[in-house]
Amino acid sequence: MKVTVVGAGAVGASCAEYIAIKNFASEVVLLDIKEGYAEGKAMDLMQCASLNGFDTKITGVTNDYSKTAGSDICVITSGIPRKPGMTREELIGINAGIVKSVSSSLIEHSPDTIMIVVSNPMDTMTYLVHKSTSLPKNRIIGMGGALDSARFKYRLAEALEAPISDVDGMVIGGHSDVGMVPLTSHATRNSVKVSEFLSEDRLNQVKEDTKVGGATLTKLLGTSAWYAPGAAVSGLVQAIACDQKKMYPCSTLLEGEYGLNDLCIGVPVILGRNGIESIVNIELSDAEKAHMQTSAEGVKKTNGLLDF
Ligand code: 2OP
Repeated sequence: MKVTVVGAGAVGASCAEYIAIKNFASEVVLLDIKEGYAEGKAMDLMQCASLNGFDTKITGVTNDYSKTAGSDICVITSGIPRKPGMTREELIGINAGIVKSVSSSLIEHSPDTIMIVVSNPMDTMTYLVHKSTSLPKNRIIGMGGALDSARFKYRLAEALEAPISDVDGMVIGGHSDVGMVPLTSHATRNSVKVSEFLSEDRLNQVKEDTKVGGATLTKLLGTSAWYAPGAAVSGLVQAIACDQKKMYPCSTLLEGEYGLNDLCIGVPVILGRNGIESIVNIELSDAEKAHMQTSAEGVKKTNGLLDF
């Protein structure tokens, strides 16, 4: 199983590290445009191999896509991260050109790859890959919901004063500070609806804290987060590589599902060796349906800024 990660910045390197530690891939190629940077990160990560007990071979390359040839899965993390006070959508001017060029170079050497898009604004970048490449829709996946759901569970566990392992929850919709739809109607504490434990006001606070989870960290760190984004991507890569048939919220092209068309937005999907094996239609509350519609309008507005 060969995986390429483009972008050896904090998110890309964290992603490569978590993939290696999970030890399901034979090789991870880490590519960056900055001379020697990916090589250095890869070497540093390989020097963890005996300490963290993995056999995955991590190789760093500087802008040489021939070394990515035959990748089963490619992850695009390249582009600029946001600064405090910025929205993800403001990154489109620079990141769209990068994602278009990177996806084309990857597919040239790995035409059968499954592509995972992380670069922001992620839903629009995922849509851009659909519009600018010939990959089938099951092989283009946007990572946002897995990260947002992890933040949702963190906030739910905090509110419940419960261990994270007792909590389950999912966030769908756009990966944006206003467009996320934390599904409080579905969230549980060990199979019991969280509404049995938390007031509506407290659940609303959990929802709001989840939606700005990325911005909260950007304010604290001065740049975008990287540990949880990297870990979230590694979970999607593992589900595909190991054909796990796991359900994750991922950004995918909708053609009528959830009453939405011609956009990529986070919905529950089953991930396996073919990438998106199926889209799962779940029952939403009226409020969640309305929020999803508003979220889709926001994603389409950002999509409108693309010039293909
Ligand atoms: C985040 O929410 C980088 O969009 C990513 O942290």
